[in-house]
Amino acid sequence: MNILIMGPAGSGKGTMSAKIVDKYQIPHISTGDMFRENISNGTFLGLTAKKYMDQGLLVPDEITIQMVEKRLLKADCRIGYLLDGFPRTLAQAKALDEITKNIGRPVESVINLTIDFDQLAQRITGRRLCKGCDSIYHIKNNPSKVSNICDVCGSQLYQRSDDTVEQLTVRIEEYERSTKLVLEYFSSEGLVFDVNASQAMNDVFNDIDKALVKI
Ligand code: AP5
Ligand code: MG
Repeated sequence: MNILIMGPAGSGKGTMSAKIVDKYQIPHISTGDMFRENISNGTFLGLTAKKYMDQGLLVPDEITIQMVEKRLLKADCRIGYLLDGFPRTLAQAKALDEITKNIGRPVESVINLTIDFDQLAQRITGRRLCKGCDSIYHIKNNPSKVSNICDVCGSQLYQRSDDTVEQLTVRIEEYERSTKLVLEYFSSEGLVFDVNASQAMNDVFNDIDKALVKI
């Protein structure tokens, strides 16, 4: 199964990716998570990406494409992949076409999470993440059983530094400016499946699964 999940900041890409991976056991490749891991490991890539991420801006294509290509060439992707947050520009989409053709795993479906932007601020400002296993919580919509402690691994929860209303505005502008073109690109190939992401989490996943069972 070779799939992409797209949608604006806070639409639920990470939350739905966890459910998809749970059911279909394919590698989850989130460029945002990869950059954050590099930042916490203090790598050169992380230091470079941080300058852009802290402002809500996209990391340059060259860096992002190289990182994803390296990841897709790993052995676990021979059974497929779920890309979350990539591609976000037309150049990334075209590069992905080349890479996936070379590994014999062209994109089969693009799940597009649609949501009104006024719901995103509530989701982003209430989000909490696990330091240990990256599980995603929300202080109201999906709280952990013990405040600030992960249900899965017991590690502390934290708030992402770009989860402010100011940075969300920039991230949404970036989405409107660049990522909408990517959706048009995949729509012209008939690959895009729109899902209403304003619904309860299980309903969103059920709708996604209707597209996935056809693959
Ligand atoms: P990235 O980490 O991808 O962030 P994003 O796209 O802004 O999306 P988020 O991770 O914020 O939201 P999500 O859709 O995953 O929502 P979640 O499931 O967590 O990218 C960060 C940065 O990295 C970018 O700004 C850029 O700088 C850089 N970057 C990454 N990829 C790049 C690329 N390809 N090119 C260049 N730069 C790149 O859910 C959010 C909250 O809502 C959670 O609290 C959750 O519990 C809650 N929630 C989820 N679903 C529901 C529901 N159905 N009902 C109620 N609550 C829900
Ligand atoms: Mg995410």
